[in-house]
Amino acid sequence: MKILITGGLGFIGSNFIRYWLQQHPNDEIINLDKVTYAANFKSMVDVESNLNYSFVRGDIGDAQLVDKIMAQGIETIVHFAAESHVDRSIDDPSLFVKTNVLGTYVLLNAAAKYGVKRFHHISTDEVFGSIDFGSKKQFSENTPYDPSSPYSASKASSDHLVRSFYKTFGLPITISNCSNNYGPYQHPEKMIPRSITNLLTGQKIKVYGKGLNFRDWLHVEDHCSAIEAILLKGKIGETYCVGGLKKGTSNIDLVKTILEIMGKTEKDIEYVADRPAHDNYAVSWDKISKELGWKPKYDLESGLEQTIKWYTENQDWYQDTKREAEEFYIKLNKIKK
Ligand code: NAD
Ligand code: DAU
Repeated sequence: MKILITGGLGFIGSNFIRYWLQQHPNDEIINLDKVTYAANFKSMVDVESNLNYSFVRGDIGDAQLVDKIMAQGIETIVHFAAESHVDRSIDDPSLFVKTNVLGTYVLLNAAAKYGVKRFHHISTDEVFGSIDFGSKKQFSENTPYDPSSPYSASKASSDHLVRSFYKTFGLPITISNCSNNYGPYQHPEKMIPRSITNLLTGQKIKVYGKGLNFRDWLHVEDHCSAIEAILLKGKIGETYCVGGLKKGTSNIDLVKTILEIMGKTEKDIEYVADRPAHDNYAVSWDKISKELGWKPKYDLESGLEQTIKWYTENQDWYQDTKREAEEFYIKLNKIKK
């Protein structure tokens, strides 16, 4: 099978390419990535020599380039490419609309023109909005969309476009809406790698507000196996929600676990200004479990231990991106004030 992966130099895309080539060594993967600030060539060094892997630098919004790639006989598209960081969408929403909405539209058009067998769209639980503090509610495939940030609104728009191509043009699509991923190769702008790398570089962990907002943490390898289950067994036109084993982990509890594993204390926490429209998430993965037999393997504690070990042993991987990420946060904090 010939698969087009978009955004394969990013966190989840790079993990997925590695995972897929291990599980399906005869498949061919073309990775189309614009190489934004979020991309890292170092994530692919162990894959580059694989003859079934090739890389194209370019924008998913470039219709001519996408057409040229599709003409090579792509059967499946797994669409990861996106502007993915909520805080950056507060700073400048325009690129989020351009890549996440218009870029997805260009891909859908090309997929319909060339009659691909599957277009799998990677989306997020953030499209569902926020769960109230104290509520035991979990998002599911039936939860109405209610996005809060320009990022989640752009992802919601792209989900609607994808579904419309199924209903209107019969494009064989599937969508997954998953919770917060963590694990190796994640950009150090995001909460878990930022916290770990702050401690590794002698800085404190920055906690937004009082740290009471909660998330549903999913190890990236579990996300990869969920996408695999959907590609192999998922029903065309369907959406699958994907989440982790533990629900409602507050940021402060997450931070305390990281501090404990890394032998640090609460003196290494700095409370900073809160994020506007700060959501809470928890996701039910009943449907994918019942219909496709998927379940996560990692519990949060062992996943964090593995992730902390990876960042400790791979300081070379994040040095440049870490510097840029912290420069971004200094700029963002000035805007917040
Ligand atoms: P990331 O920011 O780490 O990587 C995004 C990749 O896409 C980068 O390599 C970047 O260069 C590339 N890219 C950006 N704009 C592009 C464009 N116009 N054309 C081609 N390539 C482009 O993102 P991630 O965390 O790996 O997320 C991947 C996908 O999963 C996104 O669609 C995101 O919305 C979704 N998602 C992420 C999470 C999470 O916790 N990280 C959770 C749920 C869903
Ligand atoms: O839920 C899925 C989403 O998870 C994905 O769609 C997004 O692409 C991905 O970036 C992630 O979004 P979040 O906004 O939840 O992730 P982030 O790592 O930015 O923040 C996680 C939580 O930690 C959030 O409540 C904000 C808080 N936070 C974040 C940072 C970077 C802090 O308290 N301190 C920080 O330094």
